[in-house]
Amino acid sequence: MDHGDPARLTALSGRRIAVGVGGGIAAYKVAGLVSTLVQAGAEVTVAMTASAVRFVTPLTFESISGRAVYLDPWSPLDRADPQHVRFARELELMIVAPCTMNLLARFAVGMADDAVTLLASVLDRSRQPTVLAPAMNEAMWRQPATQRNLRTLREDNFVVVEPTSGWHACRSDGPGRLPEPEALVDAILAALPTA
Ligand SMILES: Cc1cc2nc3c(=O)[nH]c(=O)nc-3n(C[C@H](O)[C@H](O)[C@H](O)COP(=O)(O)O)c2cc1C
Repeated sequence: MDHGDPARLTALSGRRIAVGVGGGIAAYKVAGLVSTLVQAGAEVTVAMTASAVRFVTPLTFESISGRAVYLDPWSPLDRADPQHVRFARELELMIVAPCTMNLLARFAVGMADDAVTLLASVLDRSRQPTVLAPAMNEAMWRQPATQRNLRTLREDNFVVVEPTSGWHACRSDGPGRLPEPEALVDAILAALPTA
């Protein structure tokens, strides 16, 4: 992967970042993002939705991040220290990629019913930015509900990364593609508070 100027990645060293993975076909690209963050020295915790697990195995993210993947709020690794609360306290930024149409809707109404939404629900977005990278086919992207939810999420201080346009796995062509990992790293660097 081309990281551009490698010096820019030093800003990620030691930073505590959560990556929420949604159930979209682009979930495989997020393995590259996590690898880049880890190689730059970030402490990365991955959370996955139940649908995301249908696309990429937790083992992939566990191996790349070197940490347990947060899958089920009902099975915390440490019952005395529920993960979503502990992670939330320590986190400096969360990125959700691919952020499905479904996740956009759930964030927009403030749901907290799985590992990804629950983790995001306890962040203070004024100091812990939550970056959403939507990815879906162009018909889903153009839905009034999706566009309405995006407006709400921006008002609620979520950072939304614009999807790119191009070829989709469903053989359509248009907006809604997940940007490449380099662009997601740029979005993280832009949103990350100064250490
Ligand atoms: C093969 C396949 C590919 C999918 N790709 C996407 C996608 O790219 N973006 C999206 O928003 N939904 C996509 N979906 C639908 C989501 O998986 C579905 O809405 C799911 O409930 C999302 O769950 P989550 O938001 O909890 O991850 C896809 C479904 C299938 C079966």
